[in-house]
Amino acid sequence: MGTKSLALRFLAEPSDVNFGGKVHGGMVMKWIDQGGFACAVNWCGGYAVTVYVGGIRFFKPIHIGNLVEIRSKLIHTGKSSMHIAVDVFSKKPEESHYVHNTHCIIIFVAVDKDNHPITVPAFFPEGEEEIRLQKYAIRLMELRKGIEEEMQSFQA
Ligand SMILES: CC(C)(COP(=O)(O)OP(=O)(O)OC[C@H]1O[C@@H](n2cnc3c(N)ncnc32)[C@H](O)[C@@H]1OP(=O)(O)O)[C@@H](O)C(=O)NCCC(=O)NCCS
Repeated sequence: MGTKSLALRFLAEPSDVNFGGKVHGGMVMKWIDQGGFACAVNWCGGYAVTVYVGGIRFFKPIHIGNLVEIRSKLIHTGKSSMHIAVDVFSKKPEESHYVHNTHCIIIFVAVDKDNHPITVPAFFPEGEEEIRLQKYAIRLMELRKGIEEEMQSFQA
């Protein structure tokens, strides 16, 4: 069983730019997936795939040349699933204050070599903050049931 949280830190490069001169939203989504993946596989000690990405909210743009920090935190586990809260922060490298740019929940499922879901170590919240975040993950799961029913009607 690995650690519950993990951070990636790097500079936003000129190649990450969008048509408006800021960091491309698709690039931020890629970083979220990478940060979440690193956190998930660190926890389960094996391979995992993304099964769901929920409600990405872009609060503020990220500027090219800024230092980006992707903070990933395990907040809930099911049998094979790992719910990770990912928050993206950035700042000018020479400054100390980080801006909160993006938040989302991403869910990974641990799989074996045949892509079958396998059991992950259970997450037990410690302290008020982890209890609050686990409740948040469970509430979102409940809310998603209605959304998924609606989306199935689209697929049909
Ligand atoms: C992930 C995958 C192996 C799950 O297979 P599956 O047959 O749906 O498996 P199950 O129905 O047994 O569900 C497995 C887990 O996924 C969770 N899950 C399935 N659909 C979900 C959804 N829409 N949202 C959140 N969790 C979901 C289930 O709740 C279950 O979690 P639990 O074991 O903790 O209860 C399969 O859906 C898959 O291969 N998806 C594609 C993954 C992929 O290519 N990702 C992008 C690149 S990494």
